[in-house]
Amino acid sequence: MKPADLMTTRPDRHQPRTLSELSLAVHGGVLSDSTKALRTPLVMANSYELPEDPSEISWSATASGLYTRNSGHNQVALEAKLAAMERGEAAVALASGVAALHAVFFTHVRAGDHVVVSDVTYEATWRLWTELLPGRYGIQTTFVDITDLDALRAALRPDTKLVCIEAIANPTTKVADVEAVAAIVHESDALLMVDSTFTPPPFYRPLEHGADLVVHSLTKYINGHGDAMGGAVIGPDRLIEPIKAEAMVDVGGVISPFNAWQIQRGSVTLPLRLRQHYRSAQLIAEFLEADRRVEYVYYPGLASHPQYDLAVRQFGRDNLGGTLAFAVKGDPATQNRFVSHLRLVTSGFSLGHDDSLIVHVGADGPRVAAYPEPFRRHGYLRLSVGLEDVGDLLADLAAALDQTFDRTVAG
Ligand SMILES: Cc1ncc(COP(=O)(O)O)c(C=O)c1O
Repeated sequence: MKPADLMTTRPDRHQPRTLSELSLAVHGGVLSDSTKALRTPLVMANSYELPEDPSEISWSATASGLYTRNSGHNQVALEAKLAAMERGEAAVALASGVAALHAVFFTHVRAGDHVVVSDVTYEATWRLWTELLPGRYGIQTTFVDITDLDALRAALRPDTKLVCIEAIANPTTKVADVEAVAAIVHESDALLMVDSTFTPPPFYRPLEHGADLVVHSLTKYINGHGDAMGGAVIGPDRLIEPIKAEAMVDVGGVISPFNAWQIQRGSVTLPLRLRQHYRSAQLIAEFLEADRRVEYVYYPGLASHPQYDLAVRQFGRDNLGGTLAFAVKGDPATQNRFVSHLRLVTSGFSLGHDDSLIVHVGADGPRVAAYPEPFRRHGYLRLSVGLEDVGDLLADLAAALDQTFDRTVAG
């Protein structure tokens, strides 16, 4: 059975493809069992009872009801929901966002192939394509500025198998024109993979704009509560099935039943949470940009952002991301001092959680060469705006600025 067929045990009541976003977030993937529970039961079993003659069953089968590495009850339910939310044919849920990225690379790229990667990407993507995969499998990587479509076209080669971009890139918030990139990529035989962790559905769906595969770190907005790791790849059956067979069953990056269950529950409120994240992030970005003690702010909802017009056209005016990058005036010690004065916003990795998180990242290393000049000069603070009251968040940031700087230079 395909995940989309398992949207609910009550298909007569809930036709997933026709549900509106809020209803889909509540009802999608609800997969009951003989208990007739109204929520997907948590099934922690590693193994399922086999039919009378199991001798013909492939141990690498991706069917559920065999063994949890091949696909357990809670994975299937979560995959069904994710496929419906992204409007893809199929999804595979894995142990983390990085496991999902690696699963795409491992399955769809061979030794000696060429890939094109955006020059601004999440750290692990950068490391996989600069060190790990080229070193181990002789894969060749070209990094390009994906906002320069001529450079993208020039980077594609007959042996290019994959192009990897982020819709809004971590950490600089560079925005990719997904449709334009897809049109160029599809002049060749390469696949376009979009990491859409910063732009979860319902607000953006890269598959509807030409992407072949979408990757999410479920750890972030989709779970949203900072209490489970997970990752997913969504796309057509012909691309997802090999990921399941190879990267999930035979390499083993499977998600745990508990995490799948937890993420399915967290995702119920995703559309509601995203509205709040985005609304608050916009106000905070505007507040920071207006303060003279702040060196720079990068957020796609600011008119000063290099891809502001594209962001508004692509995502809509009310929906420009929940994460921003900025620096206060001063050296790295000043950035740390500012963070140490925050009381509500917490210093921590990750993003997309209910609580606001900030992390100070230095400007060293080859990865930052492609970042805008202020990032390279000052490093940056990545702020993931949480679900706290925006007035409280603004007060926290203002107080930390006051404590860090002499009040007389306030903007
Ligand atoms: C854009 C992006 N992709 C992938 C990942 C990796 O996700 P995970 O930490 O779940 O492995 C992250 C993590 O921050 C991310 O920001």
